[in-house]
Amino acid sequence: MTNYKVGLVGTGVISPAHLRGWQRTTGGVVAGVFDLNRDMAQQRADEFKIPVVYDSLEQLIMACDVVDVCTPPQSHAAIAQQVLAAGRHLVIEKPLVTAVADWDEMAALAQEKQVTITVIHNLKVARCVEQAKKWVDEGRIGQIIRIRREFLTSPEADRMLVGNTHWSHQLPGGRWFETLPHELYLTHYFTGPLEVADVQALHTTNATEGAPADEVVITLRGESCLATIHFSANCRQNRRAFTLQGTEGIIQVDLLGDFATLSRYQDRRWRRPLGGYMATETARDGLHWLPNRCGYLWWQLRGQTPHTRIISAVDRYLRGEGGPLTPLDEIDYVVRNCDRIGREIDRQVKQVA
Ligand SMILES: NC(=O)c1ccc[n+]([C@@H]2O[C@H](COP(=O)([O-])OP(=O)(O)OC[C@H]3O[C@@H](n4cnc5c(N)ncnc54)[C@H](O)[C@@H]3O)[C@@H](O)[C@H]2O)c1
Repeated sequence: MTNYKVGLVGTGVISPAHLRGWQRTTGGVVAGVFDLNRDMAQQRADEFKIPVVYDSLEQLIMACDVVDVCTPPQSHAAIAQQVLAAGRHLVIEKPLVTAVADWDEMAALAQEKQVTITVIHNLKVARCVEQAKKWVDEGRIGQIIRIRREFLTSPEADRMLVGNTHWSHQLPGGRWFETLPHELYLTHYFTGPLEVADVQALHTTNATEGAPADEVVITLRGESCLATIHFSANCRQNRRAFTLQGTEGIIQVDLLGDFATLSRYQDRRWRRPLGGYMATETARDGLHWLPNRCGYLWWQLRGQTPHTRIISAVDRYLRGEGGPLTPLDEIDYVVRNCDRIGREIDRQVKQVA
C-alpha cells in the first residue's frame, strides 16, 4: 500500500498522540474518527482538522484501509473482530484483549484475511530504551542475568487511580493490567520469553478501588536470567524505571526522564576510598547529563514521541519498507502472561477479602 486511509476509533486521552503520529507519515491520511461520545469525536476532529466524524464503526471501517483503535481494552475484541472480518489492517492500543480466547480468534482471522495486526508497544521505541538496546546488542553489559522493573505510583499521581470510575479498575488485576503489557514486552525485547514463576499480591489497608492489590511483585525466570516487576500504589516517588544487570555491567533506565546510563565499573581496592561504584557513577553520569539532555531537547523540538515513532514504523511496514514492529510471538507472549498475572492478582486479593 503506498497511500492509505486511516480511521481512528476512540478519541480520548491517548488519541492525540496517535493523530500526531499519523500526520507525520508518508502514506497514511486520517480520513475520519468515531467515538461513542460524538461530542468528543467532533472536538478531536476540529482540533486535528479531520474531515469526517463517522456515525458508526461500520461506516468508518467501510471508508478506511487501516483502523487505529484507541478505546478501552474491554471494547477491543469486538471492534477488532469487525475490523479484521472486513479485511482492514488493525493498529490497536495495548492491552490488546482482556481474554486470551479473543486473541486466538483475532490471530486466526488476520491470517485468513491476510491483514496485519500491530499493537502499540510504544516503549520499545522510546529514546532511552533504544539506547539501552544498543548497549545490550553491542555486548557492553555481557549477558543479562537480572531485570528489575519498577512502576511505583500513588492514587494522587496516577490518573487511572483517581476516583473509582476509571475503566482500568474493571480489568483483571485492576489498574496494573493496563500497564502490564509494557512490562512484559520490554522484558521480552531484552531477553526473549521468560516464564512467570511467581506473583505476590498484597491488599493493605491503603488499597484503593483501582488497585485492590496495592503492592505486587511478579517474578519471571529464564534459563540464565531472573526478572522482577514491582507495582506499588503507595509510592509518591512516581518511578517508572528498569535496570538491566549483566555479567559485565549494568544499565539503568528512567522512562519518565527518558534517561539511560551504562556502568561497567569493576571493584578495585584503590577505587573504594573514592566512594566505590556509587560515587564514581554519580560523577560519570554528571558528565553525560548535558549531551543526553541536548538529545532529549532535540527530540522534543521535532515533536518526536514513542507514539509518533511507532506509528512511523507502522507506516513503513504498511508500505512494505520494514518488518512488523510487534511480531506475533511478542503479542502472544504479552496477551497470555497478562491474563495469567491479572487473574492471579485477583485470586489472591479475593482470598484476603
Ligand atoms: N501506549 C500507551 O502508552 C498508552 C497510554 C495511555 C493509554 N493507552 C491505552 O489506550 C487505550 C485508551 O486509553 P485512554 O486513556 O485514551 O482512554 P479514554 O477513556 O481517555 O478514552 C477512550 C475513548 O474511547 C471511547 N469509547 C469507549 N468504547 C468505545 C467503543 N466501543 N467504540 C467507540 N468509542 C469508544 C470513549 O468514549 C472515550 O472517548 C487503552 O487501551 C489504554 O490502555 C496506552
